[in-house]
Amino acid sequence: MSRRAQFLEVLGIPTEWVPRTRVAAPAEAPPHVVAQPAAEPPAAVTAEPVAAAIAHPEAPPAVPAVPPAPERAAPALVPAGPAPGAAQAEREAAIATMDWPALEAAVAGCTACGLCQTRTNTVFGVGARQAEWMLVGEAPGENEDLQGEPFVGQAGKLLDNMLGALGLARGRNVFIANVLKCRPPGNRNPEADEVAQCEPFLRRQIALVRPRVIVVLGRFAAQSLLRTTTPIGKLRGTVHAYEGIPVVVTYHPAYLLRTLTDKARAWEDLCLAREVHDRAGAGA
Ligand code: URA
Repeated sequence: MSRRAQFLEVLGIPTEWVPRTRVAAPAEAPPHVVAQPAAEPPAAVTAEPVAAAIAHPEAPPAVPAVPPAPERAAPALVPAGPAPGAAQAEREAAIATMDWPALEAAVAGCTACGLCQTRTNTVFGVGARQAEWMLVGEAPGENEDLQGEPFVGQAGKLLDNMLGALGLARGRNVFIANVLKCRPPGNRNPEADEVAQCEPFLRRQIALVRPRVIVVLGRFAAQSLLRTTTPIGKLRGTVHAYEGIPVVVTYHPAYLLRTLTDKARAWEDLCLAREVHDRAGAGA
């Protein structure tokens, strides 16, 4: 059976068918700043008399606590350290030099955005770290959050079958990652701030893997990676670039599960990706 026939069978289509307040914004603070107990100016200021009263219960209750001088509160509101923009740049620079173990640890312990409060597991990515193919999805869903691995739900099964039709397998010769490493609650769309905090991790993963080709799955991942608002229909069929690496855009497998009409187009996209991959190999 031809690869195309095999692929269309995987997708469930007949082969003859031809064609989808901290005062400063916490988002800009580095993880260590966000993770630290936030400055609590009023509590910090009033804590001393309260703590003293608890520590010295014999102290005469009639003596009122001295109200804090307002100028004492102000320094507690302004954390020491670099300005938020500089801190973010510093964080990104640090991530950009990490090796695999450091990167994995940084993702596992990340508290740079609010998703750390609702996740069960971070989802780092899976596959061969020297793979020639890299796939990038949007963000973990419920199953991925529970298992800590990307694309393990229904969409993941379809993805594995699609990869199989190309002679690829997640454990062997492809690395799979997401733009976000934590699940947005209720599978809502990722927010710009979450993407901004997480993107350095993906950028570093791509730099470490150095694949010959990146296949981006779905509108959200494509628009985030390529920093564009162009619709996915217009991004398909062209070879883009991310940090000098060729990028091919295709539909998200979850979308393909729902949309028969675009399944054959996904195959055309993967054929393009294979062509790009082979060409990159020939020039290597
Ligand atoms: N959808 C994605 O984009 N990524 C996953 O890991 C799972 C579902």
